[in-house]
Amino acid sequence: MSTKIFLTGGTGYIGGSVLDTVVKQHPEYEVTVLLRNVPEKFSKLYPAVKVVRGDYDSTDLISETAAKANIVIHCGNSDHEPSIKALIAGLLRRNEPSFLIHLSGTGIVADYRDDTYHGTENPKIWSDVDDIDAITSMPDIAVHRNVDKIIQNAAAEHGDKLKTAIICPPDIYGPGRGPGGIRSVFFPMFVAEARKVGATFYANDGSNGRSWVHIDDLMVVYMKVVEAAANGGDGADWGKEVSIVIIVPKYADGLLKGYYFASSQEVSQKDIAIEAGKLLHAHGLLSTAEPKKLTLSEIGGLMKGHIYYPMIGTYLWASNSRTRSHRAEKLFGYKPSAPTIWETLETDLLASAEK
Ligand SMILES: NC(=O)c1ccc[n+]([C@@H]2O[C@H](COP(=O)([O-])OP(=O)(O)OC[C@H]3O[C@@H](n4cnc5c(N)ncnc54)[C@H](OP(=O)(O)O)[C@@H]3O)[C@@H](O)[C@H]2O)c1
Repeated sequence: MSTKIFLTGGTGYIGGSVLDTVVKQHPEYEVTVLLRNVPEKFSKLYPAVKVVRGDYDSTDLISETAAKANIVIHCGNSDHEPSIKALIAGLLRRNEPSFLIHLSGTGIVADYRDDTYHGTENPKIWSDVDDIDAITSMPDIAVHRNVDKIIQNAAAEHGDKLKTAIICPPDIYGPGRGPGGIRSVFFPMFVAEARKVGATFYANDGSNGRSWVHIDDLMVVYMKVVEAAANGGDGADWGKEVSIVIIVPKYADGLLKGYYFASSQEVSQKDIAIEAGKLLHAHGLLSTAEPKKLTLSEIGGLMKGHIYYPMIGTYLWASNSRTRSHRAEKLFGYKPSAPTIWETLETDLLASAEK
């Protein structure tokens, strides 16, 4: 059977990188993308890729296109419910088993709602193998949980036909490879806020740690999962694999195995503030290289009014989100090899300042 992929977010940082990697590594796959805006250069870059025009609320179109694919890679929005429901509905129309590879994010385990460790290191490190039950039964309020839960419930109910994988990267750095946006979200926001503050910043002792991954290392994990799907699922963990007795969605929490962290290193907020301060100062973008210690309330007030995440200042710069990719290591021998965050920091910061 030929491999037919339907991908969303093809002009985004992550989705564009997945699109580019899939097309270059597997020109034999038939790829269709959902795009609301088609970049001028798109057909020249990807002549064999079919474009369907629509947005995430074009649910009929999304279902119809998903029903024609045996693999859906949903990379555009980790929180949007109508599009994930439409994708699942489309895949379930198929007679054969199909695969859904969804993009989530380690915001789901971030400790930003509990102030115990804000601005300081939380000893908890999350493993996608050892902590899988806790990760897949987070409270509804956790970031990205709304969509993770929809997928989990679908896997519990239709696991014989619908094989699901959730890829859950931490903060990402390095240049994307796709036809649209090639920058991650963290640095543009950090640079913009640092310029308002007049210095890079941290709170408390700044030892709060977050995991990171280079976009190229993330693509390694993606490709292993995509290739496993193209081979009928062998070699990867999918959705829910438990006794047939447990088929009621409300019991599905904690039973999802197809869950992949994709981290490669961990960095404290203070170290980022120190290194970024030196570089932004050296390039004349800040008048001081010295990071500023903010109060928790000041850091929490940054980017106030963000439409999606009300506590985004605390989340991005005072919380911990420490994750380990044990599943990818165990199944795929995943070993990050891309440049470290420090090696690309200058380029990432300067590109962010230009935005
Ligand atoms: N970047 C990170 O560090 C990171 C880490 C973990 C998780 N995540 C999550 O991953 C998701 C994607 O992140 P990203 O950084 O790749 O985002 P991005 O660069 O902003 O890409 C978003 C993609 O979705 C498309 N899109 C947005 N709204 C749409 C709509 N209503 N209809 C159709 N297409 C739409 C965009 O198309 P246009 O080109 O038309 O705008 C673009 O292709 C986000 O939900 C984010 O929270 C990101």
